[in-house]
Amino acid sequence: MSDAALLRIEALRVSFRTPEGPGTAVDGVDLAVAAGETLGVVGESGCGKSVTALAVLGLLAVPPARIETGTIRFDGRDLLRLGEEERRRIRGREIAMIFQEPMTSLNPVLPIGRQVAEPLRVHLGLTEAEAREAAAGWLEKVKIPAARRRLADYPHQLSGGMRQRVMIAMAMVCRPRLLIADEPTTALDVTIQAQILSLMRDLKEETGTALLLITHNLGVVAQMAARVLVMYAGQVVEEAPVAALFEEPFHPYTQGLLRSIPVLGGRAGGAKTRLAEIPGLVPAITERIAGCRFAGRCPHAFALCREDPPALWAIGPGRRARCWLHLHPERRRHHG
Ligand SMILES: Nc1ncnc2c1ncn2[C@@H]1O[C@H](COP(=O)(O)OP(=O)(O)OP(=O)(O)O)[C@@H](O)[C@H]1O
Ligand SMILES: [Mg+2]
Repeated sequence: MSDAALLRIEALRVSFRTPEGPGTAVDGVDLAVAAGETLGVVGESGCGKSVTALAVLGLLAVPPARIETGTIRFDGRDLLRLGEEERRRIRGREIAMIFQEPMTSLNPVLPIGRQVAEPLRVHLGLTEAEAREAAAGWLEKVKIPAARRRLADYPHQLSGGMRQRVMIAMAMVCRPRLLIADEPTTALDVTIQAQILSLMRDLKEETGTALLLITHNLGVVAQMAARVLVMYAGQVVEEAPVAALFEEPFHPYTQGLLRSIPVLGGRAGGAKTRLAEIPGLVPAITERIAGCRFAGRCPHAFALCREDPPALWAIGPGRRARCWLHLHPERRRHHG
C-alpha cells in the first residue's frame, strides 16, 4: 500500500484495567487521514472515539490504559515508538487538539493572551513580544471582539463560545498539520455551535490543516467532513464518503444513527427533537461477545451474526462495512 496518508492508524487495540477485569475499548481500529482532509468519526457514547484520539496524542494514562497492538504513523513515523520528548515536540506543533470542555484545557490562572502565545514560544522559539503579537493576531482571526483588549482576560471572564475560540486559537497558532477535535461544539448551544464550525472550516481552508473531527452528531459531520468513519463498541463498522453514507447507509447501526439525527424546529417548538433512538445500549468493554457486537440491537440479525464476528469488508469505492448483510443481502428486512 503506498502511503499518502498523513495519519495512518493500523490495528490499534487499547485495553483498560477495570474493577470488572480487563476491557477492550478500541479493538483493531484502522483509519487514515490524508493531508488537508477532514475525516469525521461518529458513534454513540462509549464506542472508543476519545480513546482513539488520546492514543494518537500519547495522552492515555498507562496504566489503566494499555496499547496492546497497532501502529500510529504520522508522516511515516510510528508515534507509539517515539520517546516522550519527541512526542511532546509533535504534540502542539504538528498535531494539535481541541476538546469539548475548554475549561479543562485552559489554565484558569493564566491570561488568555499568555496561553495562546505559549505554544509559539515553546515550539517555534518566538520571543515574548513576538508571541504576544502573534497571539493577538490569532484572537482576531478566531473573531474574538476587541481581541487586543482581551489578551489580559482570564478564561472565566469569557463565555463558553469565546473560550472555545481561544482553544481553537491555541491549537492553530503553530499551524499544525493535523487538528484533532473531540466534540468541539457539543457543549455549546446551536447558534454558537454553527459559528464555531464555520470558523473551523475557514481556518482549515486557510492553513491546509487536516482535521480528525470526532462527534456523535452526524449533522456536524455532514457539514464538515468529506469522509466518515462510524465506530461501534471499539470498532470501525462503516466507512464511506459523506454523501454516500447519508444516501445509502449500509450498516444497520449507521441506519439507526441516521434515523436519530435531531432536527431543528421540531414539534412543540423545541430546538432539538430526537426522532428515534436505537433501542438498547453499547455493550460494556468487559463484555465478551462471540458474534457481531451490534447483533443484540440489530433489527436484521440472524443466527450467523450471533456466532461469528463479521469482517470489515470493502463494499464499494471508498466504502467498508462490518456486517454479514454484505454476504447475505437477502437477510436484510425491508420493513419496520
Ligand atoms: N480510564 C479508563 N478506565 C476504564 N475504562 C475507560 C477509561 N477511559 C475510557 N474507558 C472506557 O472506554 C470506552 C471508550 O471510551 P471513549 O471515551 O473513547 O468513548 P467515546 O466514544 O469518546 O464516548 P463519548 O461520546 O461519551 O465521548 C468506554 O466504555 C469507557 O468507559
Ligand atoms: Mg469521547
